[in-house]
Amino acid sequence: MSEIHTFLKEARLFPPPPEFSDKAHVRHLEEYREMYARSISDPDGFWAEQAETLTWQEKWHTVLEWKVPFAQWFVGGRLNLSENCLDRHASTWRKNKAAIIWEGEPGEIRVVTYGELLREVCKFANVLKSLGVVKGDRVGIYLPMIPEAAVAMLACARIGAIHSVVFGGFSAEAVSDRMNDAEAKVIITADGACRRGSIVHLKANVDAACHSIPSVEKVVVVRRTGETIEMRGGRDVWYHEAMAQASATCPPEPLDSEHPLFILYTSGTTGKPKGVQHSTAGYLLQAAMTSKYVFDLKEEDTYFCTADIGWVTGHSYVVYGPLANGATTVMYEGAPNFPRPDRLWDIIERHRVSVFYTAPTAIRSFVRQGDDWPNRHDMTSLRLLGTVGEPINPEAWMWYHKVIGGERCPIVDTWWQTETGAIMITPLPGATPTKPGSGTLPFFGILPEVVDKEGHKVPPGQGGFLVIRKPWPSMLRTVFRDPDRYVDQYWKRFPGSYFTGDGAREDEDGYFWIMGRVDDVVNVAGHRLGTMEVESALVSHHRVAEAAVVARPDELKGQALCAFVTLKAGAAGSDSFAIEAMKEELKAHVAREIGPIAKPDDIRFTDALPKTRSGKIMRRLLRDIAAGSQTIGDTTTLEDFSVLAKLREDEE
Ligand code: WTA
Repeated sequence: MSEIHTFLKEARLFPPPPEFSDKAHVRHLEEYREMYARSISDPDGFWAEQAETLTWQEKWHTVLEWKVPFAQWFVGGRLNLSENCLDRHASTWRKNKAAIIWEGEPGEIRVVTYGELLREVCKFANVLKSLGVVKGDRVGIYLPMIPEAAVAMLACARIGAIHSVVFGGFSAEAVSDRMNDAEAKVIITADGACRRGSIVHLKANVDAACHSIPSVEKVVVVRRTGETIEMRGGRDVWYHEAMAQASATCPPEPLDSEHPLFILYTSGTTGKPKGVQHSTAGYLLQAAMTSKYVFDLKEEDTYFCTADIGWVTGHSYVVYGPLANGATTVMYEGAPNFPRPDRLWDIIERHRVSVFYTAPTAIRSFVRQGDDWPNRHDMTSLRLLGTVGEPINPEAWMWYHKVIGGERCPIVDTWWQTETGAIMITPLPGATPTKPGSGTLPFFGILPEVVDKEGHKVPPGQGGFLVIRKPWPSMLRTVFRDPDRYVDQYWKRFPGSYFTGDGAREDEDGYFWIMGRVDDVVNVAGHRLGTMEVESALVSHHRVAEAAVVARPDELKGQALCAFVTLKAGAAGSDSFAIEAMKEELKAHVAREIGPIAKPDDIRFTDALPKTRSGKIMRRLLRDIAAGSQTIGDTTTLEDFSVLAKLREDEE
């Protein structure tokens, strides 16, 4: 490790604008440092104080019980998350405040107030009960970005059912894998979803998936597109019909602090996605707190996060975090470039959005489309910008700052993971001077460190593995029904510390720079994928003998997937048409098995894969080959790339 050098090229520093700091929740770096120091030296006191901001049905007696690596937070407490997101606002003047401003891709707009959202959630909670769903049952949600998605999540939370949202872009195969693992009793879906001017047939996918999900008893179908679908008697129920019958009274179930709130499947280093399991109280607290401090949420804000509810960002920062704060959250159904590349700027202008949160990959595609599109719109309502999902290259950061933020808005580059539940490393916009490309400093109560392979902290400026030294309230509790995998994946590599799977460095100012994954997980266009998952999809094709999938840097997507494939004898033929056709067939096959987001960008056929004497595929070599034909984009610096290669070598 000692030979690993990293170079900090980014020297620009952007202090928070004084007008912003004056009104912010945290106004000075010193104020942040004081609160942070207290959160680390007296975590119980700090978290207890924060937990007072929630509505409890019964107070906890112990802040944390920590039997490494199993945590229980706010032990003995009882509360309900939907009560915290809805009832406590609907019982005040916020009853008629917009909770959700929704825009459909074709252009419809719906404004759902806190009062209405509470009624809808109570009704749907009663629908779920009438379908036999009880506390602890798993409910699958496979919906487009429509208000019913938030209603479904909150209704589950109201009765203590555990939701598991599957991204609407995943295939029938992926739905069936996840829903089988979760043993879902009910699936909530829609006839179809509007995407880039056409329709994604969600219900048809659920029908196909249900052949192999024996646990599913009922399928609730929201009418979204109005297309003709088949409703299976005895199993399928129309949402609108069931809602018309349902009572709008449903008291929030008092749930144990540690009651599981949701399972969200995420890619790991094996072919099988992990069911990351989150709790009620700890998750809610940290989603709410980070929303307040990181997005500096105020009563008058109109907040817009572009993530889909199929990802953790959609859970924490479209639905739960903003609603817990009584904020107005904008939800957009469709593609960011439909019907034109300025759709998001148009939404910002029309709804007077003040806080905007998106992914670097989206920003890079906006850069490519040119300044003309945003320049046509009045975006002076914006006061704060955020990014999440992957490292942002300084060029994209500067563009975001200038063209979207009018050099007036702080940018919060937020680092976190499905497993962490909430933002972990981030600037506080009124307090932290930012450096383009750095997530800056840890959030309250979070103790990250960059370590070498023995787990020793490395000096500033040196690359290493990112670990978290202390438990935090919104940490994952386990992998659903697989505690061994939970221990193996996160706690074995550096005993006593949580291993993030990311490479990072800390600079002289204590700022963190995330370099990317050191394991076989990749971030393609801000979506997390496991290379092993794509490999197993490829080898499930009858003509494939063996496959190795690695990532290479990509200017637009951050990382792209490169698949090295060995075909069974004679499968491809030798003329170039046959080879191209085979490549297309394999890409389509992966799209069917997982979803279009997992399609390899490059497929290379090879007679054999390079292996070590013990038979392990030499992935590092493949990564170098995959990257070699490309110029390394500015998304990851050359230094980062070599550090990562070195870190991975240590892992292999
Ligand atoms: C990456 C998304 C750099 C990182 C919330 C992490 C980031 C993975 C950032 C988790 C950031 C997320 N800067 N990298 N601001 N945010 N990542 O589970 O590699 O979909 O481990 O959660 O995304 O992806 P996930």
